[in-house]
Amino acid sequence: MKNQVYIKNTIKPFNGKIFVSSDKSISIRCILLSSIAVGKSKIFNLLESEDVLNAIKVVKKIGVKIIKKKNYIEILGVGINGFNAKKNTILNAGNSGTLARCILGLCSGINNQIKLVGDKSLSRRDFKRVIKPLNSFGVNIKSKAGMLPIIFEGTNFLTPIKFIENKGSAQIKTSIIFSAINTPGITEIKSKKSRNHTELLLKHLNYPIKIKKIKDYDIIKIQGLSQLNPFEYKIPGDISSASFFIVLTLLSKGSKLLIKDVNINPSRIGILKILKEMNGNINIVNKKYYKGEIIGDIKIKSTNNFKGINCSSKINSSAIDEFLLIFLVAAKAKGVSKFEKLDELNKKESPRLNIAIKFLKMLGIKVLRNKDNIKIYGNPKLKLKGKYQIKNFLKDHRVFMMSVVAGLTLGGEWKINDSDSIETSFPQFLSKIKRLGAKII
Ligand code: S3P
Repeated sequence: MKNQVYIKNTIKPFNGKIFVSSDKSISIRCILLSSIAVGKSKIFNLLESEDVLNAIKVVKKIGVKIIKKKNYIEILGVGINGFNAKKNTILNAGNSGTLARCILGLCSGINNQIKLVGDKSLSRRDFKRVIKPLNSFGVNIKSKAGMLPIIFEGTNFLTPIKFIENKGSAQIKTSIIFSAINTPGITEIKSKKSRNHTELLLKHLNYPIKIKKIKDYDIIKIQGLSQLNPFEYKIPGDISSASFFIVLTLLSKGSKLLIKDVNINPSRIGILKILKEMNGNINIVNKKYYKGEIIGDIKIKSTNNFKGINCSSKINSSAIDEFLLIFLVAAKAKGVSKFEKLDELNKKESPRLNIAIKFLKMLGIKVLRNKDNIKIYGNPKLKLKGKYQIKNFLKDHRVFMMSVVAGLTLGGEWKINDSDSIETSFPQFLSKIKRLGAKII
């Protein structure tokens, strides 16, 4: 069957060194921010995946020139409020929530009707979260039930806002920051802590943004309409992509792996903290600073004495894309693991909380759910013998990759659909895992 992979052997012990694909969040931010800088930016090591290619297509459609060079891409920024969008332009964000939410903010100054569309998965996701603050800036937005397709019309008369972001969502925060850049005066966001790549990049570029850290929140003040300078940036590895290899190594007896040059921004490494607390043998070496971000190499050794965790919801945002993998480790841990306030998980590319619970039950793991809190009753002796088929997950790239890791470490015979989903974030996922010895047909 097309786009289906078949696994019937666990991976043999390996000892390897790899680079993973470049960071998706930073790649998209670099494209969007360089497109409103004044002049030529150069981005090295850009992630070449569908989400990022869609970001390129979208900004090209509103007048930005992008040229692919041998080792980098060159973006000729048009300056703040310099986009050129014809009436009824259609922008397609494909599968990317980050692109869709952020482009709405970036385009808040375009005084013309634009339509934003996405694929099947993106079209079931919530946009009320950005429609509300953008409305307050003065953007006119029409949508059915707060979902795509959206018709929006920005204005030359944006007014700054004060907004409280309570979900811990970097997409909402970034959408507002982008709109604030187009707006005269100072916009203020009280934002529950979430990944802060946008703020770090703006600070690095000397854009007037002030951040005050208070308990669990950041108070961010952005001065609009200040010139943004073009920049050069080399994108580091993506911790979310590295995580599939981290868990693969932890769960593969007798294996070791070194993952080079990964972004280890504190707002992204919840998975490392959680897995270490569960006894995972993980170490970060060679830490260095790069333009406000931190990069390091991650050393992993297989671990056989995982223990359950009582996971505080404070860490959720910094591990938000990694819970499928964390649950897999919890399934092999001794004791019960508890996770709470996971409502945002069901709002991702697929309803990941529902899918994870079904998945764990299929493996014979006891899971109890109370609203958005779950308890996973781990089984350190878990060894599978049955046949498993994974399908109907809205082509969610992370569900596909987690299932491959499960098949390669837990035993059993696996058929997993929609291998093309990896194009979203990590197109070399299968080739890299096969190079470590995995037999995947
Ligand atoms: C992202 C933020 C997160 C994350 C997504 C990427 C970003 O979403 O799940 O994969 O690049 O800002 P939320 O901010 O909505 O939680």
